[in-house]
Amino acid sequence: MRQHVNPLSKVFDQIERIPSLDEMFNDSKLPLHLDIGCAAGEFLFDLALANTNWNYLGIEIREKLVKSAKLRSREREIKNLYFIFGNAYKILNDIHNNFLAKNLKSISFNFPDPWFKKRHHKRRVIQPEFIDILSNSLQKGSLIYIKTDVKDLFDHMDCTISSNFSFQKLDKNDINLLETFNPNRFQTNREKYVIVNQLDIYERIYIKI
Ligand SMILES: C[S@@+](CC[C@H](N)C(=O)[O-])C[C@H]1O[C@@H](n2cnc3c(N)ncnc32)[C@H](O)[C@@H]1O
Repeated sequence: MRQHVNPLSKVFDQIERIPSLDEMFNDSKLPLHLDIGCAAGEFLFDLALANTNWNYLGIEIREKLVKSAKLRSREREIKNLYFIFGNAYKILNDIHNNFLAKNLKSISFNFPDPWFKKRHHKRRVIQPEFIDILSNSLQKGSLIYIKTDVKDLFDHMDCTISSNFSFQKLDKNDINLLETFNPNRFQTNREKYVIVNQLDIYERIYIKI
C-alpha cells in the first residue's frame, strides 16, 4: 500500500458521485461529522459504534482503504457511517456536493500528511482555497478541529485558517465535550503512535462565525 499519494495528480480530478445523506445514513437528521484523511477509518468505526446519535463521514484519498472500510461498514451493518474516496478539496469544491458542507456540524483534520519539503507544501490538504470553500458553505457555529505532531504544519494550518475572517479560534474550555463528535476522546492511529512515542501534539479548534 502506498503511504503517500500526490493529491494534485490529475487522477483525482474525476470524483465519484456522492449519494444523498438519506442514501448514506439511516437517519440523515442526526448531526454530521466529517473526518478528512480518515485512512482505514478505525477512528470513525470507534465513534460510530459508540455514538449512534451522530452520523460520521470519512474522506480518504487512498482508494483501497476506502473500499475495505466501506466493505467492513456494510458487513457490520453500521448505519451512521459512510466513506468517500477522493481528494477532499475536489469533493467539497464540486457544486453537486454543496449539501455536504452545508450539513456538517464539525470537521476534523487529524494528523494530515506534513509534506515536509517546501516545494511539496502545496500538496498539504489545508490550503487557502479549501478554507474559502468551507467559509462559504459551512453553517455558522460549525467547528473545524486540527491536530498534528508537526509544529511547522500546525503553524501553516493555523495561519491559513486564521487568515480567513469567517473563522475564530475557540478555547477548548468553551466547548462541552459531551456535545462534540468525540465525547469519548477516542484517538486516531497516528495519535496513539504519537502518544506512545511521547511526541508533542499541536491542536486547535475554530468556529465559523
Ligand atoms: C498521516 S495520515 C493520518 C491518518 C489518520 N487521520 C490518523 O490520524 O491516524 C493522513 C491521511 O490523509 C490522507 N490524505 C492526504 N491528503 C488527502 C486529501 N487531499 N484528501 C483526502 N485524504 C487525504 C492520506 O492518504 C492519509 O491516509
